[in-house]
Amino acid sequence: MTAEIIDGKAFAARLRATIATDVAALKAKTGHTPGLAVVLVGENPASQVYVRNKAAQTQEVGMNSYEHKLPEDTSQETLLALVQQLNQDPTVDGILVQLPLPAHIDSSLVLLTIDPDKDVDGFHATNVGRLWTGERALVPCTPTGCLLMLKDYLGKLDGKEAVVIGRSNIVGKPMAALLLAESCTVTIAHSKTHDLAAVTRRADIVVAAVGRPEMVRGDWIKPGATVIDVGINRITLDTGKARLVGDVNYAECAEVAGAITPVPGGVGPMTIACLLLNTVTAFQMRRSI
Ligand code: GUN
Repeated sequence: MTAEIIDGKAFAARLRATIATDVAALKAKTGHTPGLAVVLVGENPASQVYVRNKAAQTQEVGMNSYEHKLPEDTSQETLLALVQQLNQDPTVDGILVQLPLPAHIDSSLVLLTIDPDKDVDGFHATNVGRLWTGERALVPCTPTGCLLMLKDYLGKLDGKEAVVIGRSNIVGKPMAALLLAESCTVTIAHSKTHDLAAVTRRADIVVAAVGRPEMVRGDWIKPGATVIDVGINRITLDTGKARLVGDVNYAECAEVAGAITPVPGGVGPMTIACLLLNTVTAFQMRRSI
């Protein structure tokens, strides 16, 4: 079997077009434009690229983008004061503080200071609780993107065996909550799991989010399963060239799976699209629309 490729880039472009239409309708209905504030502390090159892309795509769908770039030596007190100011600002519907933050800042405290109703990352404990109890929540962007692709490809997910590899707060745990809410039978596997290959081999859906290059091998996959690769790992080839690979050995797994996301061009593009989606949701939630 050769797997169907799930094209996240094309899916994200379609999603952004839908969001742009929704934003235009919300503007016409309320007279207000949804706004996303992104806070970047320091000069991390990868973070600078992410923040630039977020701002460009926010404007592309017709929303307001507010960028706050602070120097590396910004005090925790100054950052918390900015977050509190954004919490109070009626033109700001979503707040994202780009991670990682410099070591002298307590990231957990900063994330918990964001108004949960503006927490478009879905990292605040209030949103985590809402997600697990089935209330309307802001849900982390990467697992939301994975779920949208899975539902688009598979339709209803109920009763399916899903294995999530990785237990991070950003991907693994919220991914498991979303799959459970779709009535999957969910296993969260991690570094202490015995015989991971045997666990993944029974899965109809495998979501790999461990941050280990090409860890998932072809013989770990049940024939016809759907494989979602969240990993983005930069490896150096023998030739000295750098290459991006996922947590899944793509060549091997594409021989066995029914469908698979590539790296790059799979989950990655969906993450920012889901951030825009969350900003629209936050706008609607705050106005009870
Ligand atoms: N840094 C890398 N990915 C993310 C993300 O999804 N949210 C935030 N806040 N920072 C990040």
